[in-house]
Amino acid sequence: MERLQKVLAQAGVASRRKCEELISQGRVQVNGVTVSEAGTKVDPAQDVILVDGKAIQREAFVYLLLHKPTGVITSLHDPQGRRVVTDLLSGVKERVYPVGRLDYDTSGLLLLTNDGELANRIAHPSFEIDKVYQAWVKGVPTSERVRMLAEGVQLTDGLTAPGQARLLTTDPPGRRSLLELTIHEGRNRQVRRMCEAIGHPVESLKRVRLGFLTLDGLSPGQYRHLTSQELARLRRELSASARRFGG
Ligand code: URA
Repeated sequence: MERLQKVLAQAGVASRRKCEELISQGRVQVNGVTVSEAGTKVDPAQDVILVDGKAIQREAFVYLLLHKPTGVITSLHDPQGRRVVTDLLSGVKERVYPVGRLDYDTSGLLLLTNDGELANRIAHPSFEIDKVYQAWVKGVPTSERVRMLAEGVQLTDGLTAPGQARLLTTDPPGRRSLLELTIHEGRNRQVRRMCEAIGHPVESLKRVRLGFLTLDGLSPGQYRHLTSQELARLRRELSASARRFGG
């Protein structure tokens, strides 16, 4: 939800100050009701907002794929002044939000969009979009431990849902191992906690895939827009899984 004068200003109606005046003059309607109080919260994606009887221009939807480097916060502002993901989106004037989050010290694929509905569907575990992570962990997990990661690990907030896990390599033999985990949930620090729970703490973590989207061609810190083909495929896959799961 956003403040009405901000939504009006972002839609190019006028400056924020001027928009406050329009509101107090009773010239703005939200879902058929005149709103004369600036600061009223609205949902720019859902609410029908009119100024002098004319619908405001909706901001175009944008879909960005960022290769998040480590050392950046997945948030729009940081009170401590650390770098945030939107600092990396030079040239993007739309206000986009991250879909899910990656920890400060996690790198990899992060989708950002101003399309709240699509974002919710991707983030929701019931849609079963694969989130694939590669984690360097301490030591060498036995195949039994790797199987536990795939089948479900007991964490303080409950058992993890089934996914996939495999050991890719060890380097140098015995000191650390590279695991690949595919999960569908997005609990706080989930992969780190899962690896910790099997006795192999994460040394570094990267998300390498989200559904069919990969980081191909993007260096850390770079972003690109999704192509219209990718967007269509993403929507198709989300609808197919909604049908499968009755969503
Ligand atoms: N799991 C984690 O532990 N951290 C992330 O950033 C993402 C998934």
